[in-house]
Amino acid sequence: MITHFSGLKLQTLSIQGVRQVYAERLGFPIIAQTGQDITFAITPHASLTFKEVHEPLAPVHFAFQVPYEQFHESVKWLKQSGLFIAAWPDGREIDDENGRLNLYFRDGDGNLLEIIAHEYVADGVLVPHTPLNILYLREVGCPVASVPVFRNWLRSHLQLKTLRDGDFFNFVIGGTAHVVANWHHRRWLPIDMKAVPPKIEIAFGTPSLSFLHELQERFYLHSIPFHASDDSLSFHHEGYSFSIHHTPGFAADIPLRLQLP
Ligand SMILES: [Fe+2]
Repeated sequence: MITHFSGLKLQTLSIQGVRQVYAERLGFPIIAQTGQDITFAITPHASLTFKEVHEPLAPVHFAFQVPYEQFHESVKWLKQSGLFIAAWPDGREIDDENGRLNLYFRDGDGNLLEIIAHEYVADGVLVPHTPLNILYLREVGCPVASVPVFRNWLRSHLQLKTLRDGDFFNFVIGGTAHVVANWHHRRWLPIDMKAVPPKIEIAFGTPSLSFLHELQERFYLHSIPFHASDDSLSFHHEGYSFSIHHTPGFAADIPLRLQLP
């Protein structure tokens, strides 16, 4: 099974600009930089990479899970970073609903990021990383033409699951990873931002080599084009690049110990 997002790769027009925002303002450690890309460690198990391109960009929505008890500390860090905080139409910045807190902000490229915290997430399982106190990369947004079709495909081919199904919006879940399947005419909250499908590469991790080999077999049986190695599988679907990697460092029982629903 899939337990987490192990990486997210976005496009940028300026590595220097990304470096100023993510390293200098947010305090994310840089783990690699070349002339073409830059990679930050957001946790020991997840990286965030920006690849420099020369073409128009569509903004990406993604969210970091932070501890409930430290949410306001993370907000304070964000505010002092000087990044743009996105407010709701009534002016409110933090949304507080039934044990869930979140706040949206934008980076220098216009990506719409979010910090989110849930009261139910157990403490002491994962160590918060970066000054933002990131536990894991929770959400990556995928605007698509049909949410039901995309969701069903991810469920049957990657064995992801859903708690509730919607026609226009759906979390499709593998452990801590939430793919946000979003109808491309449904706008992103809280600033009513049009959801244009971005060019991104989404990497998942699994602790199970046999699961990975099962997926490879399933792709083969269904004649879905893919690349495979001993410990990974990659493919394209709905304009997105996906890969799944064997990540034995992320224990299989972490989602259970976090007490995720
Ligand atoms: Fe979100």
